[in-house]
Amino acid sequence: MIPFLKIDHLSKAFGGVKAVSDLSIALMPGRINAIIGPNGAGKTTLFNLITGFIRPDSGRIFFEGREITNLPIHEISRLGIKRTLQVKSVFNSMTVFENLWITLSAHRGHLNPFKKAANYRLEREEVEGVIEQLELERFRDREAGTLSYGDVALLEIGMAIITRPRMILFDEPVCGMSPQETERVVAKIASLAQQTHVVIIEHDMDVVFKLAEEITVLAFGGKLASGTPREIAEDQSVKEVYFGVDEVRADE
Ligand SMILES: Nc1ncnc2c1ncn2[C@@H]1O[C@H](COP(=O)(O)OP(=O)(O)O)[C@@H](O)[C@H]1O
Ligand SMILES: [Mg+2]
Repeated sequence: MIPFLKIDHLSKAFGGVKAVSDLSIALMPGRINAIIGPNGAGKTTLFNLITGFIRPDSGRIFFEGREITNLPIHEISRLGIKRTLQVKSVFNSMTVFENLWITLSAHRGHLNPFKKAANYRLEREEVEGVIEQLELERFRDREAGTLSYGDVALLEIGMAIITRPRMILFDEPVCGMSPQETERVVAKIASLAQQTHVVIIEHDMDVVFKLAEEITVLAFGGKLASGTPREIAEDQSVKEVYFGVDEVRADE
């Protein structure tokens, strides 16, 4: 098996702050990967580097065997790398259907008046399929601005998957959600792993241990440890640096 994502001695500093520091990781397909670490560990910066939002000072990034270091954002996106942001970014005055539709059309680059009617029908079906997958049928024609926080999050996931990405990066996807909302969103993210590579940055340890099969722990921009949830829960350096001793448990 080859890693779908390989980070090779990656570094990025902001002024004197080494946000990502000589970081090397390899993420394997077929399982949900989580990246955890204390505030300021460099997690979001890593996602920004992978997606081309910022440029590394040094090091290389490979996706599915292909080097993507320093590619422009749109080319990285075209390779099927999608992310959700910590701040929700749906169009509030559009319906759920319209949000998905416009995302798909923009992705395909053909919001054009000469498009064949048959294409519209196909895309319509794709949109309906995603609405069904995320169980948003009853909100199909509701404006996104009127949805609950959890439903907006599901819509955002829909907007990511409608483009059929090869990898989705989730940055703290359940941040600020109620336990019920969290449960719904976690279940949907878990189900995505069948169709795409899933990498999740997460603070909430319950979520991490529920969702992730492989965990990478960052601290001070570097890799502190990686392994299964159980291995991470038992790792002494992780306990010390990240959690404070004795606060970790893996669900039995
Ligand atoms: N655009 C930026 N300009 C300056 N400093 C930044 C910038 N982005 C991140 N940092 C700094 O880099 C470090 C890592 O930040 P970040 O990647 O957001 O951490 P995390 O997501 O793990 O909380 C922090 O010290 C943060 O203040
Ligand atoms: Mg962050």
